Amino acid sequence: MTDNTPAKTPALFEPYTLKSVTLRNRIAVSPMCQYSAEDGVPKDWHRSHLVSLARGGAGLVVAEASGVSPEGRITPGCTGLWNDEQRDAFAPIVAEIKAAGAVPGIQIAHAGRKASANKPWEGDDHIAEGDPRGWETVSPSPIAFGGGLTKVPREMTLADIEKVKADYVAAAIRAREAGFEWLMLHFAHGYLAQSFFSKHSNQRTDEYGGSFENRSRFLLETLEAVRAVWPDEFPLSARFGVIEFDGNDEETLGESIELIKLMKDRGLDFIDVSIVFSTPTAQIPWGPAFMAPIAERVRSETGLPAATSWYIGTSENANRMVETGQVDLVMMGRPMLENPHWPYQAAKELGKDRPSWTLPAPYAHWLERYR
Ligand SMILES: Cc1cc2nc3c(=O)[nH]c(=O)nc-3n(C[C@H](O)[C@H](O)[C@H](O)COP(=O)(O)O)c2cc1C
Repeated sequence: MTDNTPAKTPALFEPYTLKSVTLRNRIAVSPMCQYSAEDGVPKDWHRSHLVSLARGGAGLVVAEASGVSPEGRITPGCTGLWNDEQRDAFAPIVAEIKAAGAVPGIQIAHAGRKASANKPWEGDDHIAEGDPRGWETVSPSPIAFGGGLTKVPREMTLADIEKVKADYVAAAIRAREAGFEWLMLHFAHGYLAQSFFSKHSNQRTDEYGGSFENRSRFLLETLEAVRAVWPDEFPLSARFGVIEFDGNDEETLGESIELIKLMKDRGLDFIDVSIVFSTPTAQIPWGPAFMAPIAERVRSETGLPAATSWYIGTSENANRMVETGQVDLVMMGRPMLENPHWPYQAAKELGKDRPSWTLPAPYAHWLERYR
């Protein structure tokens, strides 16, 4: 007897629509620095890297943290969007990502006191004082991160703050001009925006420090300024660290949820729930999909669509997180480096109908035919 029941699409492979954008599935490639740019300009490496990930079947491909200014880069090898040459180098990459069926996204960032660092494989630390490759770092307060990042940043003036907001706006405009359809503000991981919200890094006594309202100000003003120029029909998302794992987690999480609600009121469409990373002494409970319950709480208490990353690893975890409504999308990082065709692997493992067609026709046809 043959079973004529149509194969059920696993939750991970249901399309997802936000604003005018539809992703073919719930798999997003998490932004991943390649440290392979020159003067902020993406190179052939970025093109083959990002396009192969798009061809691998993900719904959304988010290009790496790209500096809104030269001093906003993490390392001298990071991409940027502070000039037209960078924008024009991204444009053909964006077009190819789209042609491969994925939605092209980019994360724009200012690294704050974690800027001016060496490439990770050349030392996970600041570039030495006096080395011409390095630059002055800025932050809300003159407090070094610690660990290998010992450089003490200069405390930002109000003029510096205005300049960074304007840089975010200019980068957002360039991102759209390059064809990106999904913008992610980097408000996480101890970089500049996160440093304003975290008490570990912000000890200012002016209107940008102290109270919840004051520590929120830089993030909300930046968001509002970007929203004013980023077209309403395209998703504006933020990656934000909501938990530090420093023993003060209920308070941080509670405040973060309140801030995300304020971001939502100001036009944020999507939240990518991450970790604060503003102290090297945090005790992070690394483990399979350990951020999933935290993302679920953020999603349900803020009412914003959400994603998370960190050790999701398997198709089973990814599918369960979407199926049970913990997240709308999974952000996959290292699994995509390990296997750029991870979505195809997931489709096979989850019993999706015609899994080969997760890949482009020149691959899919042969895989389906001779399987
Ligand atoms: C090589 C590499 C580069 C990364 N660069 C960024 C980045 O540009 N922006 C960011 O927010 N996170 C960055 N991350 C973090 C990833 O986006 C992701 O959140 C993290 O790797 C956890 O997901 P995973 O366990 O699936 O790898 C990077 C991670 C890796 C491995």
